[in-house]
Amino acid sequence: MGKIVVCGAGGLGREIIGLLERMNSDSRWEIVGFSDASASGGRTIRGYPVMSEEDLLSFDEPIDAVIGVGFPASREKIFRKFSQNPHIRFPATVSPDSHVARGVELQEGTLITGLCSVSPDVSLGRGVLLNGYNAIGHDARIGDFSVVMAFSLIAGNVNIGSGVLVGAGSIITQGLDVGANAEICSGCVVVRDVKDGAKMMGNPARAI
Ligand SMILES: CC(C)(COP(=O)(O)OP(=O)(O)OC[C@H]1O[C@@H](n2cnc3c(N)ncnc32)[C@H](O)[C@@H]1OP(=O)(O)O)[C@@H](O)C(=O)NCCC(=O)NCCS
Repeated sequence: MGKIVVCGAGGLGREIIGLLERMNSDSRWEIVGFSDASASGGRTIRGYPVMSEEDLLSFDEPIDAVIGVGFPASREKIFRKFSQNPHIRFPATVSPDSHVARGVELQEGTLITGLCSVSPDVSLGRGVLLNGYNAIGHDARIGDFSVVMAFSLIAGNVNIGSGVLVGAGSIITQGLDVGANAEICSGCVVVRDVKDGAKMMGNPARAI
C-alpha cells in the first residue's frame, strides 16, 4: 500500500483529505495526513497528524503528495519545494465524480475535485487545480499552477497561461487568450483577451 500526504492543512487541504478517503475504498493508500508550514508539535486534524514541511522534505520512502492550497503561487512553491525530494511524487488526482473525456492531458500535480466536466482534448498543466463544479470546453489549455475556482466555465479553445487565478463563478468565452499571472475576479464574464498580469473585474470584464 502506497502512502499519500496532503500539502496544506487549511480549508482546501481538509476537503482533499475527504476526497482521498472517498477514493480509498480499495485501500490503495495509507493516508498519512498533512504537511503544513505552520505545523506545531502533535497537532491533528480529523485524526490525521500534521507534519512540518521539514519532516516531509526529509521523508526517505516513496510517498504521493497532493497540493492542498488554492492560490497559484502557493501551489507552485509547494510543488518546487517538495520536488527536491525524489521520493515525493505528485500524481494527477481526479475525483471519481468528475467526468474527464478522452484525450485530456493531465500533468504532475493536476487536481480535479468534485463534479467537474472536462471536454475532449483539453490540456491541463502541472499543478493545475479545478476546484469543483467547473466546465472546461473542448481544446481548452490551462497553464501550469493555474487555478479555476468553483462554478466557473472555461469555454472551448480558450488558452489560459500559467499562474492564473479564475475566481469563483466566472465565465471565459470561447477562443480567448488569458495571459500568465492574470487574476479574474469572482463573477467575471471575460469577453476579450486578457494581458499578462492583468486583474479583470465585472461583466463584461474590464482591467482595473
Ligand atoms: C481577484 C481578487 C483576489 C481581488 O481581490 P483584492 O485585490 O483583494 O480586491 P479587494 O477585495 O481589495 O477589492 C478591491 C475593489 O474591488 C471590488 N471587488 C473585489 N472583488 C470583486 C469582484 N469579484 N467583482 C466585483 N468587484 C470586486 C471591491 O468591492 C473593491 O471595490 P472598492 O475599492 O470600490 O471598495 C478577488 O476579487 C477574487 O475574486 N478572489 C477569488 C475568490 C474566489 O473565487 N475564491 C474561491 C472560492 S471557491
